[in-house]
Order: sequence, then C-alpha cells, then structure tokens
Amino acid sequence: MGIGIGILGGGTVGGALVRRLVDNRDVIAAKTGLQLEVLRVGVRTLDKERGFDLLPGVLTDNVADVVADDSVEMLVEVMGGMDPAGDLVLAALRAGKPVVTANKELIAARGPELFQTAEEAGVSLLFEAAVGGGIPIIRPLWETLAGETLTKVMGIVNGTTNFILTAMSESGMAYKVALAEAQRLGYAETDPSSDVTGVDAAAKAAILAGLAFGSWVGADAVYREGITGLDPVDLQFAAELGYVVKLLAVAERTEEGVNARVYPAMVLTHHPLASVRGARNAISIEGPAVQRLLFSGPGAGGEPTASAVLGDIITAARELRAGTLVAPRIRLADGGVADFGDVSTMWYLRLMVVDQPGVLAQIAAVFGHHGVSIRSVRQECSGDEATLLIVTHSAPERAQQAARDGLRGLGVVSNVAAAIRVESTES
Ligand SMILES: NC(=O)c1ccc[n+]([C@@H]2O[C@H](COP(=O)([O-])OP(=O)(O)OC[C@H]3O[C@@H](n4cnc5c(N)ncnc54)[C@H](OP(=O)(O)O)[C@@H]3O)[C@@H](O)[C@H]2O)c1
Repeated sequence: MGIGIGILGGGTVGGALVRRLVDNRDVIAAKTGLQLEVLRVGVRTLDKERGFDLLPGVLTDNVADVVADDSVEMLVEVMGGMDPAGDLVLAALRAGKPVVTANKELIAARGPELFQTAEEAGVSLLFEAAVGGGIPIIRPLWETLAGETLTKVMGIVNGTTNFILTAMSESGMAYKVALAEAQRLGYAETDPSSDVTGVDAAAKAAILAGLAFGSWVGADAVYREGITGLDPVDLQFAAELGYVVKLLAVAERTEEGVNARVYPAMVLTHHPLASVRGARNAISIEGPAVQRLLFSGPGAGGEPTASAVLGDIITAARELRAGTLVAPRIRLADGGVADFGDVSTMWYLRLMVVDQPGVLAQIAAVFGHHGVSIRSVRQECSGDEATLLIVTHSAPERAQQAARDGLRGLGVVSNVAAAIRVESTES
C-alpha cells in the first residue's frame, strides 16, 4: 500500500520534488520498497504553469485541507516563511503526521517548540534541506557525530553572497556591480536583503550551533553583519596578505558557552573554505577526534534541495511503515550562550594615516592600551597620506572594538577605512 504525502508548496523546491516523486516513483519503489503517493499539493495560485501534471483535485489553494486530509500520512512543507507554515507544521505534528521541511527560518525561530511537539506526538520532524540545500549536513551533525565533542562549525551557507564575494575578489568588481551580475544570472533575488545582510545565514548558523552543541542559541542571538559595506580594495589586499574574504556562519563552543555569528571574515588561502567559489556552499566541522571534516556542494537550487527533502521523506516513510521511529530525536539543553564580546578573533584594519614620524608608535600604543597585540603591519605611501594594513593577534571582540574606537580618536588617523575579522587558528 502506498504512503500518502501532502506537500505545501509547488515552487522551486516543491516543483522539483513533485516531478521527482512522480517521474521516479518506480525507481524509488524498487530501491526502497516504498510506494510514495503525492496526494495533495498546496499552492497559492492554481492557474500557474508548474512543469508537472497531477490528477484533478491534487493541486489545491486550500493549504489547511492538505494537512487535515485523512489520506495524507506525512506533510512536506516547502512553502517557506513563518506564517502560515509554522502553524500548519504544528497542526500536522499534533495530528501525529511526520513532517519534512526545508524551512530554515521556521526551524531557527521555532525549533524548540516544534521539536517538543514532535516528541510529544511521537513523530519525526526532519529538516535536512534547511541548511546547505543538497549537502547532507543535519544528519551527520546530529546523528553520525553524536558521540563527538565538537568545537567549531564554520561554513559558507549562502550561495548568493559567496557568488558576489567571488566576483569581487577575482574580478575586482564593486559590491553593487557584483550584486547586479548575480541578479542577472539568477543567483540573487530582486530583493536580496535577506542574503546580503546575513539574515539567511544567521538562521542556518542558529541551526548548526543547536545541532553541533545540543544547546539552542536561536536566530535572534546570532551576531550578524552582512557584506554590503565591503570594498573590493580590501579583498585585493586580503589576497596579497594570503587570505580570502568569505561570509561565514560560525558556531563555536568556548569556555564561556556556545556562540553563533555571521560576518564577512578572512580565511587563509589554504583553508578548505577558501577555495569554495561562486554559489557553492561548504561547511567545516571540527572536533578533537575527527579533526576537520568538510562537507561541500550545491547549497541551493530546486533539484539539489529536493534530493535532501526526498531523503527525509524516505526516512519518514520507513518509520511509518515500520511503526517505529529511527531518526534520532532532537533534544536540546538550555542556554549557555556566550557573550559576543568575549569571542576572540584576529582583525585586519585598513587605516588612512598622516605620513609623519611617530605615527606607528601612537597606533601601537592604542592597541597595547587595550591589550591587543599587532601581528603584522604593511605601509603604502601616497603624498602626505599613508595606508596602513594592520593584522592583529587574536583578542576578545570587546578589546578589539575599544582599540578601534581609540584609533578613531587619534589625530594622526584620518580614517579607519576598513575592519574585517580574520578567522584563523594562530600559528
Ligand atoms: N530554493 C532553494 O534553493 C532552497 C534551498 C534550500 C531551502 N529552501 C527552502 O525551501 C522553501 C521553499 O523555497 P522555494 O524556493 O521553493 O520557494 P518558492 O519558489 O517561492 O515556492 C513557494 C511555494 O509555496 C507556495 N506558497 C507560498 N506561500 C503560500 C501560502 N501562503 N499559501 C499557499 N501557498 C503558498 C507558492 O505558491 P505559488 O506557486 O502559487 O506562488 C509556491 O508554490 C523555503 O523555506 C526555502 O527557504 C529553498
């Protein structure tokens, strides 16, 4: 007997998923022994060309009906957004239906409530596609590495910004030119704000932190900076200093607690994330026993993302048929969130200074006063002004910020033109 599936959403991911479920029905059945039946697909507009054919009555604009339909045994949510997706997912779980979702925004914002509801209902809530699109990362983190004491997860989890930064680094394009190019090629949406301000990556960072360390940080507690203020000059200087600038989602366990953050940062050119170009994603996972694992691949797109969703559907269908849960429950401990001010990183600074004797000594004194030591200095002169490129050693965020404020107050510093963190293990 087949397993009845209700799908909310028939867009980029939902459309690819429906086509795969319909076209590959026999292949999936032969491989898994499962007959997966698409019984209902909920969308906003009925008269839209979608590239798939379904029997009359399957496509509906009444999304609540999809959840309530008794023949639907499992709900797949690929409509996105918080509302009505959140309440529909909750309703399905409460009705004892397993849920598969690709919705990072929803999981990051309401994860604990949804995991708890799934636990109480005795059904699975699976969300492999919510981070990294087609890259298997959720299950490795939560299941395969469950016995590992992880220390750091760091990734490029937004293809739009990685495409833009790659264009800025490799072609010297200004941010706006690179964004326009990304939009022209379909890598950025007409309204790219969620990508370029780091909101999308922050939701993913919250999920990665929760799964890596078992304690929930939540999207609101993720420190976030986007890429809109970056100048291509600094990406060129970064290359000369042996670094590449990436928008990173970082989740780290420190003595002060778990911290999650998203910002553009420099990584050494030999770090595995440095070579991840264009719209690709990659996530590195570090722990004392596994050392460093790298997961990379297409982080978005209908087809890759549908693959991750389909994998979860097959897991949930196996559970339904077996009458028992095999996917591990998501159980989270509370809190232990570290203050961002305590997070230590190195910094790169580009300072415009007066070209006169004694300037370096004044600048070094400010850093010293705030307990930040300088790792390297490079100076370029033009006329009466000089550009100083300073890379500091690692020091807490609060000390680095105070040192920068101190530099702004120095008469010899006309501008702190750029300040970018460096994510590197000091050697
Ligand atoms: N696209 C990717 O590469 C990707 C990658 C990873 C994760 N995701 C996640 O997957 C989810 C879906 O993304 P997508 O790119 O497929 O989005 P999309 O192309 O915009 O499709 C959304 C679908 O949901 C339907 N929908 C949205 N709001 C609705 C409402 N209120 N009532 C009824 N139907 C509604 C839309 O109906 P109409 O077609 O009638 O408008 C559309 O079919 C999101 O959570 C996204 O974050 C996407």
